Amino acid sequence: MNFSMAYKTEDTHERSENESFELWSEQFLQRKEHELRRLTSEEAEKLQNDRDLVSEFKQLKLEREAQKNWDLFYKRNSTNFFKDRHWTTREFEELKACRKFEQQRLTILEAGCGVGNCLFPLLEEDPSLFVYACDFSPRAVDFVKQNPSYNAETCKAFQCDLTMDDLTDNIPANSVDVTTLIFVLSAVHPDRMHLVLQNIHKVLKPGACVLFRDYGLYDHAMLRFKSGSKLGENFYVRQDGTRSYFFTKDNLRCLFKKTGFEEVSNEYVFRETVNKKEGLCVPRVFIQSKFCKPQKQC
Ligand SMILES: C[S@@+](CC[C@H](N)C(=O)[O-])C[C@H]1O[C@@H](n2cnc3c(N)ncnc32)[C@H](O)[C@@H]1O
Repeated sequence: MNFSMAYKTEDTHERSENESFELWSEQFLQRKEHELRRLTSEEAEKLQNDRDLVSEFKQLKLEREAQKNWDLFYKRNSTNFFKDRHWTTREFEELKACRKFEQQRLTILEAGCGVGNCLFPLLEEDPSLFVYACDFSPRAVDFVKQNPSYNAETCKAFQCDLTMDDLTDNIPANSVDVTTLIFVLSAVHPDRMHLVLQNIHKVLKPGACVLFRDYGLYDHAMLRFKSGSKLGENFYVRQDGTRSYFFTKDNLRCLFKKTGFEEVSNEYVFRETVNKKEGLCVPRVFIQSKFCKPQKQC
């Protein structure tokens, strides 16, 4: 068992609208594991009883309006919702390891960049990077471009639906050293996730990697969904119409392998988030992985 501990801060979509930022901005104890989180009997019963799925009509509407719903999310929250993800470079030491020689200028793709909470800390830490950043929400892309740290010499932000717009319209094929995919794939319908990975595969250099972080099965956010929110197995809709899938290591591995990637690492990250004011301590489960495009295609 790979067991490591570190103090982290992180934020996800699972803060309800009336929770203030500070309430959940505690320090967390984190550990990495290979096994699924064990549910309590009440949790298992709750999930078992939640069988009714949202109607097909409504599901099709959610799919059609996915982009609109995320754009409205950014209209409501502007740049205030997600905290800067300063953990990226610490967690993903691979970024540095991806350099073949010390002075190499790495080209990064931040797929589903939101308003740049991952991208700007990265550029701050390493101004020699060149970052392509895309999202399907036009508002999110505008926020990135309006950020005072945005500089066209180090960053190109553009709108792109990763499930349908070809990334090679904006990025040369086989040119990217690392892609980060952070809490994005969970927002995509499971039937379309492979399209995102195929698209990314085209722009990665042979041997280059995807650094992945997202929700893991039985994360607290999954257990908090009320009945009437279930879209399919491990797939739910939030009140604002944005959707969230909860991954197991196995289904993630399968998805990446089917689209031509090789697994380098793939593990659950367990954390406890404490809300001091309400005396609550909730289990968070994330999945953190690294998959590479093979050097040689079969
Ligand atoms: C939870 S946010 C994460 C944003 C950012 N990666 C971060 O870590 O702060 C999910 C993002 O994925 C974007 N997204 C969802 N589906 C997408 C798609 N099909 N193509 C491009 N972006 C998408 C949303 O607009 C949203 O900005």
